[in-house]
Amino acid sequence: MTDKGLEEVVAASTRLSDVDGRAGRLWYVGYDIHELAARSTFEEGVYLLHNLRLPTEAELEELNERLVGEREVSRFLAELMPTLAQQTSPMSMLRTSVSAASAYDPDGWDDSPEANERKAMRLIAKTPTLIAMYHRMRTGQEVVPPNAKLPHAANFLYMLSGQEPEQEDAAALDTTLVLYADHTMNASTFTARVIASTLADMFSAITGAIAALKGPLHGGANEEAMKMLEEVGAPERAEAYVKAKLARHERIMGFGHRVYKTEDPRATHLRRLSQEIGERKGDPRWFEISAEIERVVGEEKGLHPNVDFYAASVYHLLGIPHDLMTPVFALARMSGWTAHVREQYADNRLIRPESEYIGPRNQRYVPIEERSAQAAR
Ligand code: CMC
Repeated sequence: MTDKGLEEVVAASTRLSDVDGRAGRLWYVGYDIHELAARSTFEEGVYLLHNLRLPTEAELEELNERLVGEREVSRFLAELMPTLAQQTSPMSMLRTSVSAASAYDPDGWDDSPEANERKAMRLIAKTPTLIAMYHRMRTGQEVVPPNAKLPHAANFLYMLSGQEPEQEDAAALDTTLVLYADHTMNASTFTARVIASTLADMFSAITGAIAALKGPLHGGANEEAMKMLEEVGAPERAEAYVKAKLARHERIMGFGHRVYKTEDPRATHLRRLSQEIGERKGDPRWFEISAEIERVVGEEKGLHPNVDFYAASVYHLLGIPHDLMTPVFALARMSGWTAHVREQYADNRLIRPESEYIGPRNQRYVPIEERSAQAAR
């Protein structure tokens, strides 16, 4: 029997992350997401996902240096960017750029485990640069080169705005990157692993993952959630808005989850960040609208917010343009995708499920002249 949506299918064994949907728990390599969100950094998470253990100070320092050293994009990508900035949406730019990045990768077609580790670090390091470069070009502003003194999250905000971010803003973005870094067999990670299972290269697998993330049922939900917050505009309008949407059988973006049957543990942190940043910046409206939508959706449908719902107001308050919210998700998930691709290569078997045929059977081939004559009659 078909399991539409593969809900019950276990498609891979992984050491990277684990979810308990009933208890609302998430772990990376056995570490509770609550502890990582409170104490870790994105770079430490990158090390964890790629080495299956936390780094020492020296190891983290070495990783930081490698990532900083790989931030610049190739001349080929920089020359491609003006066209992409004019002609494509942000996620299409990212998909195309990652695909194009294979052209000048120093490791070329080397698909050894060592080369794949280096390709992974390059993709993680360059993704923020690509997004910021795209945004600066499309808005007619000068491109801001990476700042080697700033960590991953702070440098991204710097390249986007041209100004060094406040420490609290950089820390908040960093926490969201930790939260978004990996999430078991979500659609984009599954896509990446399917592509890797054919032994296609790392860039192909990640290009496919970005394509899968783009859709509103997956990563595109944070941007859609932000559109909703703007449409609602004020907390007192949330109830009528949500009820009208549900009456039209429309989905409320940022709510519901295939695996979590209770609160998504990542939403707990994003809710807190949304409130904290709103208060700190004297702009509590987005949190208040969000909280009201959460109340009504909970009462009407019993659904909980997922990672994308409060991420929308957090990113808005951090000055991230709305259509860059899904690319920021990709920026974080790049760490998990690349780790999953490496894990797939390390113990590969072609992923090739079955399908249930539901079309007609025993048809007889009629020559085209007869078909045409039959149609004319
Ligand atoms: N708003 C309204 N109704 C919903 C929602 C929602 N957000 N989510 C699920 N439902 C209803 C759905 O209409 C269906 O009702 P019924 O049985 O009466 O037709 C029922 O819940 C089950 O829905 P489903 O689509 O079979 O459930 P699923 O496990 O396939 O869906 C989901 C998971 C995430 C696709 C879905 O909850 C959804 O569309 N949410 C909105 C988009 C979203 O926020 N996506 C982000 C997902 S989490 C992070 C990420 O991957 O980016």
